[in-house]
Amino acid sequence: MASTFETVGVVGLGTMGAGIAEVFARAGIAVVGVETDPGALERGRGHLEGSTGRALSRGRLTEAERAEILGRVAFTTSLEDLSDCDLVIEAIPEVMDFKRALFTDLDRVCKPSAVLATNTSSLSVTAIAATTTRPGRVVGMHFFNPAPVMRLVEVVRTVSTEDGLAEEVAGLARRLGKTPVTVADRAGFVVNRLLLPYLNHAAALLEQGLSTRDDIDTAMRLGAGLPMGPFALLDLIGLDTSYEICEALFRESRERRHAPAPVLREFVTAGLLGRKSGRGFHGEEPPANPSSEEKPSASTVAVVGGTAANGTGAADGAAEAFAERLSAAGFKTTAVEDADLVVAVSRTPVIEQAVRLPHPARLVGLNLVGDQVAEVASTVLTSPGAAQVARGLLRILGRTAVSCRDRAGFVVGALLHPHLNDAVRMYESGYASMEDIDTAMRLGCGYPAGPFEMLDRLGLETVRDGLRALYAEYRDPSFAPAPLLDQLVTAGVRSIRDLSS
Ligand code: 3HC
Repeated sequence: MASTFETVGVVGLGTMGAGIAEVFARAGIAVVGVETDPGALERGRGHLEGSTGRALSRGRLTEAERAEILGRVAFTTSLEDLSDCDLVIEAIPEVMDFKRALFTDLDRVCKPSAVLATNTSSLSVTAIAATTTRPGRVVGMHFFNPAPVMRLVEVVRTVSTEDGLAEEVAGLARRLGKTPVTVADRAGFVVNRLLLPYLNHAAALLEQGLSTRDDIDTAMRLGAGLPMGPFALLDLIGLDTSYEICEALFRESRERRHAPAPVLREFVTAGLLGRKSGRGFHGEEPPANPSSEEKPSASTVAVVGGTAANGTGAADGAAEAFAERLSAAGFKTTAVEDADLVVAVSRTPVIEQAVRLPHPARLVGLNLVGDQVAEVASTVLTSPGAAQVARGLLRILGRTAVSCRDRAGFVVGALLHPHLNDAVRMYESGYASMEDIDTAMRLGCGYPAGPFEMLDRLGLETVRDGLRALYAEYRDPSFAPAPLLDQLVTAGVRSIRDLSS
């Protein structure tokens, strides 16, 4: 019998739960919102009023529409009020014991035909379903933050889910104006299984001192074109939730890449949870003083190219183009021996070029990313002054400089290539199609292009070679190119998406 879903319960009215309640109410569906105590209930009401108030002030809703939406949501602290709901979605903290206890209660109070759904980010829907007498009517319905904005809903079916139920829930997601992607029950599903390892990797690289928080955020936003940098996004998701997702991924995979970076635990233990607590990686710090921005004082610059591997230092195409831009901007270019600053437009290790120079302290590595960003790598021998001068010089050339250490991939490659590799591995494992993975990352995380679209744009060989360099440097097995990627490059295939057509 097809479900109608006319009244929906939402348990837990934190950021996600309140957002989910808003989505249903906007679609004309009656909502019963449940919180544990009156204080939490009021905060939940506040989230809904705030979000619809912002839409009102931006002219996206009229006063009457807003009142109608809010009027569709009943607030209560009693689970018993869910007895008439056709569907109940749980959006409580990401702790299995809490979820299992709640589902036992929901199973008791909800009518037998009701569908019980969890918005879990990464925990086993199967294990949650098993606490009920109706595992066939339990699914995952996973929304993305901010729920009213992000268009994806992951519908998670388990081995116990009744035939046809996932399709019904996907139909409901469409009625909400969302795009469903239906998947089986694996930790993190599609999006979090790809997103969190990347965010966790960013946290690990920050700890290792590869670059700064702001430079990493800038690199991924302006260089890779993502809507937010990894630290801004970790703060949005919540560091506690992010930590729990990594734990769940690690428990299932035992992959080093999924083990939460120690800095995440430190922040969570300190109560610095991100936006919801007012401070996480960002927040409550004095703004940077723009007057302290570096001013280039180098009178002469030399540009060298060639990869470190051939180590010639002879100017190649990219280096020549960069030298021309410098000259056009009024900088005097000269021979390496006479230069105050030497810019190596090359791959890492930059140090291999530095040791061949008469003044290695004057050398920085440079990697231009897209139209806006330039990564500036300092070696152990680079003087702070030279790095600062390089940043200023790039600013004059209209590029945002991202400073980093001399490590494979600089910042963007180090973070993006393994992220894309994970997507290839996911596809290779048979868990999801390329189309679903691309859709999920575009609509769930606001990516301008899905991972497979990015792979094709960047070039399969470029990404494969980037991964090889990362693997050679860090010896982390998760950086080894996915066998499929290697094979496609060997076979001379240009578009990975050709495989899916
Ligand atoms: N609630 C409701 N609406 C919001 C909102 C919120 N918290 N934040 C932003 N919006 C709305 C704004 O009102 C605006 O709507 P309008 O165009 O109708 O006026 C629209 O979103 C765009 O907002 P802004 O112009 O203020 O800001 P941006 O253009 O920078 O977009 C963003 C903000 C949509 C958050 C964008 O930066 C983005 O897509 N970021 C990526 C977010 C992401 O990756 N989410 C998924 C995280 S993973 C997850 O949630 C899974 C979980 O299990 C962990």
